Amino acid sequence: MSKPKVYVTRRLPSPGVELLQEVCDVEINPDDSPPSRDLLTRKVRDMDGVLCLLTDRIDSDLLSSTHRLKVVSSMSVGFDHIDIESATRKGIYVTFTPGVLTEATADFTWALLMAVTRRVVEADHYLRTGKWKIQWNPTQFLGVEFSGKTLGIVGMGRIGKAIAQRSKGFKMRVIYFNRTRIDREQERLLDIEYVTLNTLLRESDFVTIHVPLSKETWHMIDEDQLKQMKRTSYLVNTSRGPVVNQTSLARALQEGWIAGAGLDVFENEPIDGSDPLTGLDNVVLTPHIASATKEARSKMAEVAAKNLISVLRGEPPQYLVNKNVLNVKPLSFVKMIE
Ligand code: GLV
Repeated sequence: MSKPKVYVTRRLPSPGVELLQEVCDVEINPDDSPPSRDLLTRKVRDMDGVLCLLTDRIDSDLLSSTHRLKVVSSMSVGFDHIDIESATRKGIYVTFTPGVLTEATADFTWALLMAVTRRVVEADHYLRTGKWKIQWNPTQFLGVEFSGKTLGIVGMGRIGKAIAQRSKGFKMRVIYFNRTRIDREQERLLDIEYVTLNTLLRESDFVTIHVPLSKETWHMIDEDQLKQMKRTSYLVNTSRGPVVNQTSLARALQEGWIAGAGLDVFENEPIDGSDPLTGLDNVVLTPHIASATKEARSKMAEVAAKNLISVLRGEPPQYLVNKNVLNVKPLSFVKMIE
């Protein structure tokens, strides 16, 4: 059997590519930016496997050009950039990398929440621009405390649970909303209460979002939802930008419907330098880096490579998105590696 041909859409942390190279012919996009649409179309057509990132839009048009592709392995927990239905119809396996970025993302969510509530970025800027003239000021840079407050977690998957675990040290009440309620024993262990989204918005001092982007969650937080939140509350989003209507959020922050926000994701990334959000002091903005730890990124690359290799070995991958594909094209039909 000849070696499968695999395209990797960006340079990856070790050991992703090294693992692939042991069993596949690997071509890597040498640039720091994503491959153009044309290039990606050609690669999807000519390769047996593609290892992609969340910046690579793999839609039905792109997939319609391929008869060869067997697996799309995304180095991400989100898979909203891939048309899963089209891939499944064509018998293409789609895999992802949940689990290994949970701790990094949960840590970073807290970092954003702390940064915005304790005004860390504003204070750093104040110091660096030479404005710190008086040693200590009893009324300057006042923020808010977590202890005794309510944290609202929207989405109680792996990351939502890791956020809840971390909140224990802060002595908070934790409420959550999820499409389906989790089992009571887990609720008890995490010390969290299930509420409706409206209750969560009305009662939380801090709201953090951890849902995947889908037709159902697009603009799930819009003007109506923001207006239900307390004027003293904060919103954090490390999931996907379009879950929040960004125009409504900018108004909410400008007009004081809520106190502040910490955002790692945006409706369009990279965010435009002239976006109204970039002119506001009550928001901390970061460039989609919640999973950016050495540990998480290297594990993500490893899991993405292993998922891809498993499919081409004709074995069930650890993290398959489209389980129905097994009925459309059984693994024995895509096996290329002995
Ligand atoms: C990051 O946003 C991911 O989906 O992995």
